Amino acid sequence: MNAVAPVEQQPTAPALDPRAFRAALGSFATGVTVITARAADGAPVGLTANSFNSVSLEPPMVLWSLARKSLSLPVFAQAQHWAVHVLAADQEALSTSFARSGTHKFAGLAMEDGLGGVPLLEGCAARFQCRTAFQHEGGDHLIFVGEVLAFDRAERAPLVFHAGRYALAARRDPQLPQARSARVAGGLGEDLLGYLLGRAYFQCHLEMRERAAAAGLDEHQWVIVAALTVRDGVGVAELEAALGYVLDGPVEPVLRSLRAQGWVMATGSDPSSTARYTLTPDGRDRSLHLLAAAKAHEAELLARFGYDEGALLKLQLQKFIAATNPGLHDLWHDA
Ligand SMILES: Cc1cc2nc3c(=O)[nH]c(=O)nc-3n(C[C@H](O)[C@H](O)[C@H](O)COP(=O)(O)O)c2cc1C
Repeated sequence: MNAVAPVEQQPTAPALDPRAFRAALGSFATGVTVITARAADGAPVGLTANSFNSVSLEPPMVLWSLARKSLSLPVFAQAQHWAVHVLAADQEALSTSFARSGTHKFAGLAMEDGLGGVPLLEGCAARFQCRTAFQHEGGDHLIFVGEVLAFDRAERAPLVFHAGRYALAARRDPQLPQARSARVAGGLGEDLLGYLLGRAYFQCHLEMRERAAAAGLDEHQWVIVAALTVRDGVGVAELEAALGYVLDGPVEPVLRSLRAQGWVMATGSDPSSTARYTLTPDGRDRSLHLLAAAKAHEAELLARFGYDEGALLKLQLQKFIAATNPGLHDLWHDA
């Protein structure tokens, strides 16, 4: 019988593929923070970091790691105090700015002095003011463990970072009943996308439809009036290409009724194929009032639903529209 050869000890771990390693780390979704300190010469210093994490509740401690190549390293290595700002969903620009090495990151920002003179930024989801408890070697990073001396928190949705990109978080709602599927196999289920979109559209527009009706406009007229606030001098063909899917019929009779009611005027020559349509001064005034009311109503609905979730819903709808566009004309982009 042959003796089994002893397995040779690997002196070092086999080299990992750095890109694959980064990608695997990126599957851990994190929040985003900006960490600030004050240099000995008084200059504010800071950088974007997602290596932040909680360590201990008693005593309260947090940690984060700083790349050795970071220009901020000498300041953080010396600083006794630093502050972690957990960014809110609408602070992506701040994150991008603090992720640029060595630039004047604080220009134009509202700041106050925290403990030890640490620069504190505003509008964040939470802030932790810390004193360095330990510094540890961490390969190409230096790990800072800090004792939390003070913190504050606001009811703001967090900015999320996942797979190398910023993201928004949608919370699961345990109160929400499970969507009912159809009793009859193959029948309309409550989770059918078309049903959800249609129902949401109806509820979103309920009040607006009443306001438009009070101003003397039916739904089709309101769609055209709203479209004409985007741009003056739009032709019939263009309106049809952009709005045909909503109007479900020819644009001309609607335009004719709007002209008769004094909302719209035609410029250029008839025949109507070459005529261009514009809101009358009175029509523009009234439509802008209606649109302002529509925007205020939307803000009220979104506040009820959660502003960040509203932003997420819009983002998903924009993606869905782009992914499924059968080639519809777009009044905003196709001018
Ligand atoms: C989402 C995100 C997370 C980051 N996390 C860290 C981190 O945890 N530690 C780190 O040293 N750099 C991190 N960076 C990179 C730094 O923000 C970047 O290198 C910055 O330019 C350093 O600034 P400085 O050279 O002025 O110190 C991150 C960047 C982004 C966009």
